[in-house]
Amino acid sequence: MAEPMFPLVAEQAQVRRRGKVLVGPVDLTLQGQGTTIVIGPNGAGKTSLLKMLHGILRMNGGDLRWACPMAEAQRRQAFVFQSPVMMRRSVVDNIAYPLQLIGTKRKEARARAAAWAERISLGDALDRPATLLSGGERQKLALARALIREPDVLFLDEPCASLDGRATREIEEILQQTASEGTRLIMSTHNMGQAQRLADEVIFVLQGRIHEFSPAVEFFSGPRTAQAKAFLRGDIVE
Ligand SMILES: Nc1ncnc2c1ncn2[C@@H]1O[C@H](COP(=O)(O)OP(=O)(O)OP(=O)(O)O)[C@@H](O)[C@H]1O
Ligand SMILES: [Mg+2]
Repeated sequence: MAEPMFPLVAEQAQVRRRGKVLVGPVDLTLQGQGTTIVIGPNGAGKTSLLKMLHGILRMNGGDLRWACPMAEAQRRQAFVFQSPVMMRRSVVDNIAYPLQLIGTKRKEARARAAAWAERISLGDALDRPATLLSGGERQKLALARALIREPDVLFLDEPCASLDGRATREIEEILQQTASEGTRLIMSTHNMGQAQRLADEVIFVLQGRIHEFSPAVEFFSGPRTAQAKAFLRGDIVE
């Protein structure tokens, strides 16, 4: 059994760039169960918060601790970016790449990648250059590439932004299945329907701070703060 990674504890965690506070100060404890959805207006700091928690945005103050050593925590988590970068290689090679990095034999890596390609409806496109994929296909590929190493924690930054209903549903199905297998999902979205379908708990971000952090059922049935209420109504919140 691997060591527990959770709780993840942030204390007075802060990210500043050019005199501007992007995140924080944030005090947050995430437990090891369920799916956390991060919502909030444009520019609120959702992407920055996710990147900070994932450890790819240098902090300027405070503390961030996983329950296991940091190096191990980093190995066991993955991140799906809003605009994923495709390597100039085939679809199957792109999906297999993370396995190649950890020394999986080429044949096995390609077989597992092909199975993932099937799962994201790219089974017919194994040898197509990934750079030619559509936006939705790239997002699905990025998800497969993140999941192929079976991370314990997966961060996703608006993985369905600008995707149509079908691609969104495919991604949500994979995410639901992944969550049900015990992977911890921490994800931002602008789609409140999606937030309600996936969330066990909600972080509402405003001006770099965590304005509200509640179980999803409570949040969606009656947020505590006026700003969150206004946001859910679709009003402009700053
Ligand atoms: N490297 C940086 N240097 C300076 N400012 C930055 C940097 N990265 C982000 N910002 C600013 O920090 C704020 C938070 O950005 P962030 O991308 O985290 O917001 P967001 O909630 O993800 O927004 P969106 O909904 O548009 O994706 C924004 O005002 C943004 O312009
Ligand atoms: Mg963002």
